[in-house]
Amino acid sequence: MKGIILAGGAGTRLYPTTIVTSKQLLPVFDKPMIYYPLSVLMLAGIKDILIITTPNDIDNFKKLLGNGKRFGINLTYKIQEKPNGLAEAFIVGEDFIGDDNVTLILGDNIFFGPKFSTLLSRAKKDVETQGGANIYAYMVKDPNRYGIVEFDENLNAISIEEKPLNPKSNYAVTGLYMYDNKVIKYAKSLTPSKRGELEITDINNLYLKNKNLRVEVLGRGFSWLDTGTHQSLLRAGMYIQTIEENQGIKIACLEEVAYNMGFLTKEEIIEQIKAYKNNEYYDYIRGLVE
Ligand code: DAU
Repeated sequence: MKGIILAGGAGTRLYPTTIVTSKQLLPVFDKPMIYYPLSVLMLAGIKDILIITTPNDIDNFKKLLGNGKRFGINLTYKIQEKPNGLAEAFIVGEDFIGDDNVTLILGDNIFFGPKFSTLLSRAKKDVETQGGANIYAYMVKDPNRYGIVEFDENLNAISIEEKPLNPKSNYAVTGLYMYDNKVIKYAKSLTPSKRGELEITDINNLYLKNKNLRVEVLGRGFSWLDTGTHQSLLRAGMYIQTIEENQGIKIACLEEVAYNMGFLTKEEIIEQIKAYKNNEYYDYIRGLVE
């Protein structure tokens, strides 16, 4: 299974904060936003990851994350020239995906919840053994902003609509998608929607039509945080701060995930964090491995 983080887009809703930097590099409390989706892919055990971003931002992502060795993973980068839609990730990433399955996560999506790594490995196994796709739905109060799933009484998905005017439910499709290799073929078959984008919702509908889409609801104990507006970005930061300070843990600390997943040894971690010396991030990781 390969991983893709889509971290492009114009970011205009967050102007002026995103005039000179990518939205996905803005801080969410104590780390850059992209750390959160990257930690999700790592928790799924995915080590080969492509970051897709804009021509303007690619160098900054490389400066931040490099080739991924610091976290025991392999990172590569590609440019999406224009924000032509989420489904374009599979066209830009075609060579990278090769014959493999692929997980796409949006670079501005923050997930936090119990037994998340178990859920991720289960989904990965589903796609590896049965093909098809696994996606996640989450209850929201403003359903016209998202892709919305309609379920039958047995919680089987029966329709998905992108930003519907009359939503059939309050279940939004989150920005985490696991697909078999057919996704490349499906992405190439799409035509742009009314808003001019290759829609991920159209891909999900192709899987649904072929009876190969599994939609799992993330329950109440789960957090899927929005970072789309100044208010929601600040709220996400405060949420992370509250949990981290209450519990003395860190969410999406990449070195910690790398250590727990066995991607790096204790000695390798200590070597990698030398540059952080004298800060509390360094002390946290040092405390963990010792
Ligand atoms: O967040 C989940 C939602 O993401 C889903 O419920 C929707 O079905 C899906 O279409 C998408 O909603 P939006 O279209 O409103 O997403 P947005 O335009 O905000 O883009 C999501 C992220 O992807 C954002 O950080 C920018 C980045 N992006 C977006 C586009 C269109 C790209 O990197 N390239 C793109 O071409």
